[in-house]
Amino acid sequence: MKEETLGGESLDNGTFPNRETALKTLDWAAKRNPGNWIRHSRVAGDAALRIASAMPGMDAEKASICCLLHDIGRYVGVVRARHQIEGYRFCMERGWPDAARICLTHTYPLNDIRRYNEYWDVDEADKRFIETYVRNAVYTPYDYLAQLVDYLALPSGFCILEKRMVDVARRHGTDTGSVARWNRLFELKAYFDDKTGVNIYGLLPGIRENSIL
Ligand SMILES: [Fe+2]
Repeated sequence: MKEETLGGESLDNGTFPNRETALKTLDWAAKRNPGNWIRHSRVAGDAALRIASAMPGMDAEKASICCLLHDIGRYVGVVRARHQIEGYRFCMERGWPDAARICLTHTYPLNDIRRYNEYWDVDEADKRFIETYVRNAVYTPYDYLAQLVDYLALPSGFCILEKRMVDVARRHGTDTGSVARWNRLFELKAYFDDKTGVNIYGLLPGIRENSIL
């Protein structure tokens, strides 16, 4: 995708696309593989914007756009682990390494892929790449936030963690690492509650209604 300009000045900072490019990219992906993941991605990007905006020191636009694109690898079709590596490659090819990183790290609140079973639709080389990348990654608040908002974003809007956990479990099942991952997500929420000084659920309009109805 070509870099876009407005008023002669580049809006891309080189490590992640500007919002207009990210939204166009998501629209393009929606034509290739329509599905709930598009609205989930938009909600995740919105959640990231709202939480990062309340957190001192975070670039809210970077957080939001990387979260908007966290599942972009799903443009290839209905896939599971493969969406991570496809998204990583897609973003790297376009010069968006910050977004590429999130495509890989958002799935792994625990950075040991052995805690994640039964969904490896990638070849052994790609699996090893993901394993090494995630194990060696020193997570930043951007990784934490992407891991968290993935669980705050239903296609219909913001939701509490438990709602999304059950949603994912009902569709994909659970495995021996499920409870440890859920516990980690509650720790991540506590981390952002602490850093923002508020209960982050209060930053997400409609979360109460969307979690109940
Ligand atoms: Fe996601």
